[in-house]
Amino acid sequence: MSDRQDTRPETGAFFARDRNLHPPALAPGYKTSVLRSPQRALLSLDGTISEITGPVFGHSMLGELDNDLIHNFAKAGESAIGERIIVHGRVLDERGLPVQGALVEFWQANAGGRYRHKKESYLAPLDPNFGGCGRTITDENGYYFFRTIKPGPYPWPNGVNDWRPAHIHFSIFGHGFVQRLITQMYFEGDPMIWKCPIVNTIPDRGAIEQLVAALDWANTIPMDSLAYKFDIVLRGRRSTLFENRPEGN
Ligand SMILES: [Fe+2]
Repeated sequence: MSDRQDTRPETGAFFARDRNLHPPALAPGYKTSVLRSPQRALLSLDGTISEITGPVFGHSMLGELDNDLIHNFAKAGESAIGERIIVHGRVLDERGLPVQGALVEFWQANAGGRYRHKKESYLAPLDPNFGGCGRTITDENGYYFFRTIKPGPYPWPNGVNDWRPAHIHFSIFGHGFVQRLITQMYFEGDPMIWKCPIVNTIPDRGAIEQLVAALDWANTIPMDSLAYKFDIVLRGRRSTLFENRPEGN
């Protein structure tokens, strides 16, 4: 669970985003943000009905191997090359309550740091048995789980010699198209985290540490996989306290 979890009493109040924890849109050390960041004041647009009400995800949409990147692209009887790992955790709101039914998607480079993408230019080889993406849905406890191989670091064209630390990209969908959050997970103990220009756009060290998954020794599978634990805490409880129903419903 996050150290940043809000422990103030429940009031039903709206909690504004803490901008001090998020990178600025314009961060010149991350070169593409210079052209990508807004040049004019932002406008707030209302969501449409279809954005607010759909889609509703269900377990029936998931394939058997969707949460197993070791096997979901591999030929029968084969598996992806790399350190076998489990990544798991819970999706929680800012009160620590589980967010159930959230679609969690993940994508990553292979063990050599190479993505399976036509625009990928890194010389590390593709692994014929590794696709690099998967998905799952949180259960009633907000819990998610997937198996994969540990991704490798990779160089990218930014400064003269910039590298991304090993990381997994995450997307979390709520119950509407407008409820989508995207982030990246890093690995405990990786010295490259602190050299990354993208990581270094985050102005708060504690906020960076929230993106670092801890080695979870208790959940390793002996002779099979190491485990990393990554809890995702969402802001966004806007609900007013209604007297005719319990808090949290
Ligand atoms: Fe990446």
